[in-house]
Amino acid sequence: MTTRALRIFPDPVLRERCREIDCFDENLSRLVDDLAESMYAHRGVGLAAPQIGESLRVMVVDVDQREGAPRLLEFVNPRISAADEELEEREEGCLSFPGEAEMVRRPRRVTVQALDRRGQPFEITAEGLLATAMQHEIDHLDGKLFIDYLSRLRRSLVTRRMKKRSREGE
Ligand code: NI
Repeated sequence: MTTRALRIFPDPVLRERCREIDCFDENLSRLVDDLAESMYAHRGVGLAAPQIGESLRVMVVDVDQREGAPRLLEFVNPRISAADEELEEREEGCLSFPGEAEMVRRPRRVTVQALDRRGQPFEITAEGLLATAMQHEIDHLDGKLFIDYLSRLRRSLVTRRMKKRSREGE
C-alpha cells in the first residue's frame, strides 16, 4: 500500500468522467488499497480514484474511523439506484479542496449498488453522513464537485481562493 499524492482543484483530472472497471485484477486491488491508505493518511471520510490521478470508477468511504472503529467500504463502478425526495443539508469538505467547507443539500437517504474488488455485487442503503459521503464520492467519478451545488457567489469565492492557492504553490 502506498499513500499517493492528492490532486488538488483546479487539477483537470477532477473534471473528467471516469472509466468503468472491467478487469478485477491485481492492479485494481492495489488501487483500492492505495485509495484507502491515502484517505486514512489525510483523515478524509472518502476518496475517489481521480483524486489520486486515476480516471477510474473506484472509491472508498469510511465514516466511522473518527469514532475509533474504522469500517472501510470499497466501491467499484458504483451507482445510485434509489434516492429520497427529501433533502438534507450538511457541511462538506473535500480532500481536493484543503481548508474549504460548505453547506450542501442532497437526498437524505440513498441506495447504492456497486461491485467489490473481486467483482461481487453488493448494495448499501444509508442516511446521514454515509449517504452524503457516498453521493459526494460518486459525483467525483462523473467529474462533479461539491462546489457545483453552491450558489454562484459561494462557488466563485471558493474557486478564487483555490486558484490563488494553486498559483502561490507553483
Ligand atoms: Ni471530494
